[in-house]
Amino acid sequence: MDGGSGGGDPTRPRVGLFPCPFQGHLNPMFQLAHLLHRRGFPVTVFLPPSTPDSVAGHIPHFDFVPLPGRLLPRLDNQSDVAEAIAELNAQCEAPFREALCRIASAEGVACVIVDALLFRVQAAAKDAGVPALAMRTSSAACFNAFILYPLLLSRGYLSIQQESHLEDPIPELPPLRVKDLVRVDRSSSESLSRMLEQVVGAARTSSGIIFNTFDAVEAADLELLRQRLDGVPVFAVGPLCAVTGGAQCSLLAQDRRCMEWLDKQADRSVIYVSFGSLAVLEEEEFGEIARGLAQSGQAFLWVVRPGQVRAGVRLPNELIEVEERGMIVDWAPQQEVLGHPAVGGFWTHNGWNSTVESLVAGVPMLCSPRDYDQMGNARYVAHVWKVGLQMDFDNGPNMEDISQAVRMLMVDEAGHDARARAQHTKEEVTDCVRPGGSSSRAIESLVDHICSL
Ligand code: UDX
Repeated sequence: MDGGSGGGDPTRPRVGLFPCPFQGHLNPMFQLAHLLHRRGFPVTVFLPPSTPDSVAGHIPHFDFVPLPGRLLPRLDNQSDVAEAIAELNAQCEAPFREALCRIASAEGVACVIVDALLFRVQAAAKDAGVPALAMRTSSAACFNAFILYPLLLSRGYLSIQQESHLEDPIPELPPLRVKDLVRVDRSSSESLSRMLEQVVGAARTSSGIIFNTFDAVEAADLELLRQRLDGVPVFAVGPLCAVTGGAQCSLLAQDRRCMEWLDKQADRSVIYVSFGSLAVLEEEEFGEIARGLAQSGQAFLWVVRPGQVRAGVRLPNELIEVEERGMIVDWAPQQEVLGHPAVGGFWTHNGWNSTVESLVAGVPMLCSPRDYDQMGNARYVAHVWKVGLQMDFDNGPNMEDISQAVRMLMVDEAGHDARARAQHTKEEVTDCVRPGGSSSRAIESLVDHICSL
């Protein structure tokens, strides 16, 4: 874990941080803010519109600058994202520039670390005479795909719908297959192309790009990325949840009763089920998951966020009958849950944070990716790092497949192998964050780099 010197070193310059207001982006950005603060940097966090007020509540040692603007629409899937990001960029640019100029002229700001999706915010920082670094909250492999997006689009990989080609490899992006890339239709492809071109363009002209990843799992992708970004400094400082000892910025209240419940379960007997902060479940899918968990015979802890399922949808009787075997919560302290000895597996959508948190805890995964970068993450988990099993719901989830997959992870040979690999990867993660490890060295060079700007 990072052994910083504590905040408030008078020789350190102020650093600004600008996150995207989504859970999966806020957590790693706040972890980075904690890391820099422990290294003595005074920290100012700019809060874009749509960030809940509660975010600023608990951290007295950061300065917060809320920016005005309209609420963003809810992001349910990939097709909404480019428009929402364009809107967020447009809304934040001018008020951010103004606020930054004010703070920079009063006390100086060494740099601003901006979520990589906020390319106009990065440009506004440079307009204000403050260097901008990009923070990318997903994998290096995902950013390699962003860089190659025009090529992937022109070769038709992103529009292939025929079953017979979905397993085809993408020679430009091994080990990914066609089905591991986002599907884009004609209406979303133009706005997504424009957004990614701007995101990659801003990264190329940034003063550096920071990734919540680490050499033990992504050394090869990081190497490719460095070649493709041609001289832009790349800092692989993750996993930030391990480096900062689990600091986070939860938008929803965590139901801690699940920790007491876990204390009463046998070691490695519980499957933890969560599909992150954005995924919405159709009524039928919700029912099949519930029946599959009931039929699996395994103990389970299942996160069902408020609004994740349409209001009024009821649990099927099959699950109610086995209620004592499981627990359903609105939101869990996920990192603690994954670190609990009773948890033997994680059924996940493979958001990058969930994937990384599972690697840190050494918990094998059952992968059912849904959207965004999740298919690519799942491919690495199941087929490269071999710390999980991939579940394909090509024809929609059904309780038989779910029950079988849960048992495969929790009790079968395949699950044992994935668990052994996950334990091994956990040790490799620990090596990365030890003094002298690759992530510790990356943090040192990031600190030096910021001081040199
Ligand atoms: C999505 C993408 O899939 C992700 O890869 C991308 O980088 C950001 O957008 P999300 O669906 O929220 O993110 O998933 P994930 O990246 O896994 O982040 C979820 C975060 O919420 C994790 O840090 C997890 O610990 C936290 N969480 C989740 C909780 O604290 N409690 C819960 O009950 C569930």
